[in-house]
Amino acid sequence: MSSLTIAAVQTQPVFGDIRGNLVRALDLVPADCDLVVLPELFATGYQFRDPAEAAAVAEEAAPGGAGGPITTALTAKPAATGSTLVAGLAEKSADHVYNSSILVRPDGSREIYRKVHLFDREKEIFQPGDRGFGVVTACGARIGMMICFDWLFPEAGRSLALAGAQILCHPSNLILPWCPAAMVTRCQENRVFAVTANRIGSECRTGQSLEFIGMSQIVSPLGDVLTRLDRESEGAATAAIDLADIVQQVTPRNHIFGDRRPDQYRL
Ligand code: ACM
Repeated sequence: MSSLTIAAVQTQPVFGDIRGNLVRALDLVPADCDLVVLPELFATGYQFRDPAEAAAVAEEAAPGGAGGPITTALTAKPAATGSTLVAGLAEKSADHVYNSSILVRPDGSREIYRKVHLFDREKEIFQPGDRGFGVVTACGARIGMMICFDWLFPEAGRSLALAGAQILCHPSNLILPWCPAAMVTRCQENRVFAVTANRIGSECRTGQSLEFIGMSQIVSPLGDVLTRLDRESEGAATAAIDLADIVQQVTPRNHIFGDRRPDQYRL
């Protein structure tokens, strides 16, 4: 089956209110979706003052790990609804804390991606991702995970597309204004769908005020914005998609990957 209903959920978390943030975010998850993406660090909030604060709420969320309240809630929801969920959380592994996203299938199995490109002060809080960009199968699709600032590095989307991704799941806490437009190009140049789930509101816990831009969206492989939320409201943006719309032939003589010339690139 190549038809799927997918959604991006846009929230306004209250820093530190894990229980309240979880309830509100999971209430916004629309019914009858195959795949739902929630924002980066959606249950904790974003602006940690120091690594110890992040470590205090980080969970062993990787497959086989002990989990925690966020992992548990994210696992219960797909079991009840049949939707696959992707969401951002602080992940603990040995002595490290990563800014990660977790994918949870309805059968309770899960996958983890650790943010490779850390943004600004995140470099003082989190360990950079160490697992690269892998593709996993869920809800009948090949899913690639990236997180927020990864949008600015075309290598992220390209690595996922070359690994066979059909849908990029992109939990975000966007601050810079350019990502919604850039993801249109990421989709066109890789012929993938992308679901960017962002947050709204602001945080100022370190003296630096951060305004989050909302505009969660779903983009098609040809760069059509299928749905986009505004900058002010919580909610869910939903789209019915067909994986058969992923066409890698650009013209009869041009293939989006076959025409690459790695021998001419200096990377
Ligand atoms: C970001 O990567 N959260 C801006």
